[in-house]
Amino acid sequence: MNSIRLGRSRVNIDELMHDAFHAIARRAQARSIRVTMCVPAAMPTLFAEGDLLRVALDNLLENALRYSDKGGRIDVEAEETEREIVIRVCDDGWLIEPSDQPHVFDRFFRANGSGGRRPDGLGLGLYLANEIVALHAGRITVSSAPGAGNVFAIHLSKSLLAHEARHEAELVADSRQR
Ligand SMILES: Nc1ncnc2c1ncn2[C@@H]1O[C@H](COP(=O)(O)OP(=O)(O)O)[C@@H](O)[C@H]1O
Ligand SMILES: [Mg+2]
Repeated sequence: MNSIRLGRSRVNIDELMHDAFHAIARRAQARSIRVTMCVPAAMPTLFAEGDLLRVALDNLLENALRYSDKGGRIDVEAEETEREIVIRVCDDGWLIEPSDQPHVFDRFFRANGSGGRRPDGLGLGLYLANEIVALHAGRITVSSAPGAGNVFAIHLSKSLLAHEARHEAELVADSRQR
């Protein structure tokens, strides 16, 4: 998959997250799961394959919904750090055993559901999300602990920021002109 060339364009993080949020809002409401969204104003614009990032984010949200009980809560947030843009999907649903956590991004991996419950699934959602983020030279981390719940975080390097990427493109163009 690493040989795929990305069709990159400007991606507004705020828009990406709100669109994903609206896509699950009704289903969450039907199960009395509260979804909150926190995106700081003036997040930078990424130069990325927006449709693919949306698939990655959708897969995390889908899981947060699917592996949570009625009455739960899901928090979606974005943060800009010195080096990264981090998008987090947090839920207070079923926990993932420490021994399963290193495997959740493996193809076809599915953990045992809490109390033996296990909704249908193929075990491909996180594999795909991880591949997509890796194509953007990023990574996804998982943490799952009593009290803290589940946190899936997409870490994207700031080299994906639109102004940096444009700079890169200009450098390539410059070197071709010589
Ligand atoms: N938010 C979550 N809460 C609890 N378990 C999760 C969560 N996300 C993923 N998992 C676990 O990781 C497994 C792999 O997820 P995924 O690749 O999306 O496959 P699928 O959802 O089809 O089983 C799931 O089967 C589930 O056991
Ligand atoms: Mg899934």
